[in-house]
Amino acid sequence: MTVILDGKKLRDKILEELKLKVASLTVVPKLVVISVGDDPASQIYVNNKKKYAEKIGIAAEIIGYPEDVTQPVLLKKIDELNNDTTVTAILVQLPLPKHIDKLKILTAIDPKKDVDGFTPYNSGLLFSGAKPFAYPATPRGILRLLDEYNIEIDGKHVVVVGRSNIVGKPLAQMMLNRNATVTVCHSHTKNLAEITKTADILVSAAGGKIIEDNMLKSNCVVIDVGIFRDEKGKLRGDVNFETVSKIASHITPVPGGVGPMTIASLMLNIVDLIENSGNV
Ligand code: GUN
Repeated sequence: MTVILDGKKLRDKILEELKLKVASLTVVPKLVVISVGDDPASQIYVNNKKKYAEKIGIAAEIIGYPEDVTQPVLLKKIDELNNDTTVTAILVQLPLPKHIDKLKILTAIDPKKDVDGFTPYNSGLLFSGAKPFAYPATPRGILRLLDEYNIEIDGKHVVVVGRSNIVGKPLAQMMLNRNATVTVCHSHTKNLAEITKTADILVSAAGGKIIEDNMLKSNCVVIDVGIFRDEKGKLRGDVNFETVSKIASHITPVPGGVGPMTIASLMLNIVDLIENSGNV
């Protein structure tokens, strides 16, 4: 019997616990999200982050900018937020327009308020095997979900499809830190199926319908990070759920798997930032 990894249920459990924890803090956490442009998917993500933060007693604000905002304007706002003691967490929603230097923007965020763990300082800590102020939310959520279902990582072959700074790269590092053997595949990988067939745990964060049952060994654990609407307007992921769910030991649904875990992890990160920076 294939086990469906229920991210929604675990998210709700984590948020319930966090709500109590937030109420006991002497500092009210405050998340500020910087959002540029009007990409519909980004708008949904950003509004969701605010909604769930407020649900558990975290103050949240979205600062929206038009697509043609200049880099100095964004840098000035980040500097202001860094120096605002009421703001405990800063998130710049990605992607940013092409005329903005993403690395410059992310580097400007105070690492102690870097709720995504995307600043070079925090990713440097992660890649050095040290503890960053926050771990990237999607990888953190994936590990939490695997742990919840007692899925062993140590010694397992984890194949990550996708090499983004948001998911693929930090996840590979976090899996290494948990003693997995990690292979990272991407759009230039030759013979993808040959590699995915050797996965004990397959994580697809590539975007697009690419993972079929004949690319996997039976009883593999399948984590689907992809999310998009198909021709019929139905939400789906990178994995062909109908066929793969017949051979996998565990699989995440889309929606209801990784997405809710990203939100839960972001909320955990907001609380961690307060605890890690010694504000409490
Ligand atoms: N865009 C897609 N996922 C993420 C994320 O986890 N954080 C940020 N800041 N932007 C994203």
